Amino acid sequence: MKTIITYGTFDLFHYGHVRLFKRLKALGDKLIVAVSTDEFNALKGKAAFFSYLQRAEIVEACKYVDMVVPETHWQQKAKDICKYDISIFAMGDDWKGEFDELSILCDVVYLDRTGEISSTEIKNSLADRGAPKNQLSNGTDGNSLDNIDNKAGK
Ligand code: CTP
Repeated sequence: MKTIITYGTFDLFHYGHVRLFKRLKALGDKLIVAVSTDEFNALKGKAAFFSYLQRAEIVEACKYVDMVVPETHWQQKAKDICKYDISIFAMGDDWKGEFDELSILCDVVYLDRTGEISSTEIKNSLADRGAPKNQLSNGTDGNSLDNIDNKAGK
C-alpha cells in the first residue's frame, strides 16, 4: 500500500487542484489531502473565501481523494508522514525545494503546476467584475460534515 500526502488551502476549488490530485493518486494507492484550517491560514496571512469545513467538504468529494485531514501548523508534516505511513510527500512546484528535509522520512516530489489558473487569479478576476470579495455568509451547515478526519474507509 503506497500512501501519498499533500497540503494546501484549496480555496475556490479549480481544475488545477483536480489535475494535481489526479496525478498524485496515480503515484500510489491512497491520497491524503491536508487542508489548511482558517486559523493556520490567518498565521500565514492568507484568508480563504470558503471556510475550512467547506473547503474540506469539497476536497473530500473529489474522486481521487481518499481522506482529508486538517493542516493546523507548519511542523505537522513529519508527524503526519509517520502517523499515516506515507510513502510520498508531494506538492506543486511552487514549493520546489521547500520540504526536501522530509526526504529522510519518505519520497518528496514536486509536480508541475497547471498553468494559468490559481485561486488568487479567480478572486482577482471576479473582483474586476465587481463580485463581493468576501463570502456573505459561511452558511449554517458548517457542522454537517461527519468527522471529516476519519473518512479513511472510503
Ligand atoms: N496547484 C497546481 N496547479 C495550479 C494551482 C495550484 O498544481 N494551477 C497546486 C499547488 O502547487 C499546491 C496545491 O495545488 O500544491 C494547493 O495550492 P493552493 O495554494 O491552495 O492553490 P492556488 O490556486 O495556487 O491558490 P493561491 O492562488 O491562493 O495560492
